[in-house]
Amino acid sequence: MRTPADQVGVRRGAVVAGAIELFRATYGARPPAVAVAPARVNLIGDHTDYEGGLALPMTIDRWTAVAVGPGTSADCRAVTALERHGPASCDLYGAGAGDRVAGIDPAWARYAFGAMLEVAAASGRTEPLPPLDLAVAGDVPVGSGVSSSASLGVAVAGAVNATLELGVPRAELPAICQRSEHRYAGVPCGIMDPYIIVHGEAGAALLIDCGRAEHTLIPIPRDDDALGLLVDTKVPRALNTGQYAARRALCQKAASVLGVATLSQASEQRLLAVRSRLSEEEFRAARHVVRENARTRRVADLLLGAAERQVEDWEPVLEEIGVLMVQSHRSLRDDMGVSCPELECVVDAALDGDGAYGARLTGAGFGGCALVLCDPDWGDRVAKRVEQEFERRFDYRCAVTSFRSVDGLSTTADH
Ligand code: GLA
Repeated sequence: MRTPADQVGVRRGAVVAGAIELFRATYGARPPAVAVAPARVNLIGDHTDYEGGLALPMTIDRWTAVAVGPGTSADCRAVTALERHGPASCDLYGAGAGDRVAGIDPAWARYAFGAMLEVAAASGRTEPLPPLDLAVAGDVPVGSGVSSSASLGVAVAGAVNATLELGVPRAELPAICQRSEHRYAGVPCGIMDPYIIVHGEAGAALLIDCGRAEHTLIPIPRDDDALGLLVDTKVPRALNTGQYAARRALCQKAASVLGVATLSQASEQRLLAVRSRLSEEEFRAARHVVRENARTRRVADLLLGAAERQVEDWEPVLEEIGVLMVQSHRSLRDDMGVSCPELECVVDAALDGDGAYGARLTGAGFGGCALVLCDPDWGDRVAKRVEQEFERRFDYRCAVTSFRSVDGLSTTADH
């Protein structure tokens, strides 16, 4: 059920062609530059990044492509094939540009214009940006927890950086995109999503130390040894509605009581020592972060150790990883409070029978996708089990797909 390896490039090419075609059809010219940014899944380590913790994501074979060229009107314009909206245009010059971007409708354009503003600001360029035209195409499910927004932001920042030769180092793009989401989309996200989308590598996950903004490459098992299923519950989730920010606030409160800048500097023992000064919700959110960091490190160590030993039999390793994934899921449900009945159904159905090593929600939660780690020989049967149980419970179908790891952001001038 996985896309054959030789088809991955074909699918990526179709996304790029879609952006170029849309550019041509909308603006009547050939775009001089295209940037392509993948989506991501997080294997483990959620709701840790904004507390300086560990995450273990990988970039996957779903992409956003942004074609960019010199503007043909006074404003910057953007058009997307992802939603049925015409071009959005925005005056990015002069006083109040930030407010105009933050208030623009359709909302997707906030990510596009916001990334443009922030990458220009980071370049130190003093003269205003010339007007630019953008066209966006892609196959990343929007609002499903695989980071469609960071994929868009990174692709725009990469495209604008390349086409205007702004010279912003690649390593600065994650923080630029994170700032853009904070300022213009109203989402107080962590660094994980833009970080992995910029730095991801085929054949590996990255253990990201979000506090230090550093990573270690962690090889993942080969196709014959493990299969990842992505189950989209189609429960819409928006991260600017306050639920996500509320979890951050719980963690920040706990960190301040502990006297640390981020919870990743605290141990469970210290947390227990201040328990009486925390609300139950604050204590639990903080406990999630501390334990999730430990689980994430353990999974990374298991994968790294197995790769170094060149293990033949991955099963015991994957079984142990599966247990940690399930613990992570339960902690996100019980301590962080970010699961929902549809995600529970997917995880329970996946685990209710043979073939699945582990399952967990991936990303922020509140809906969106769950990830199932399977024995490749069992992929179809596990998928069917989940689909059937989900439809029986909720009377509509979830979408079960599989994914491959791919490289992070790439930009190409002169298509
Ligand atoms: C969203 C945010 C990330 C991270 C995850 C949860 O995807 O954008 O920064 O906090 O949720 O791990």
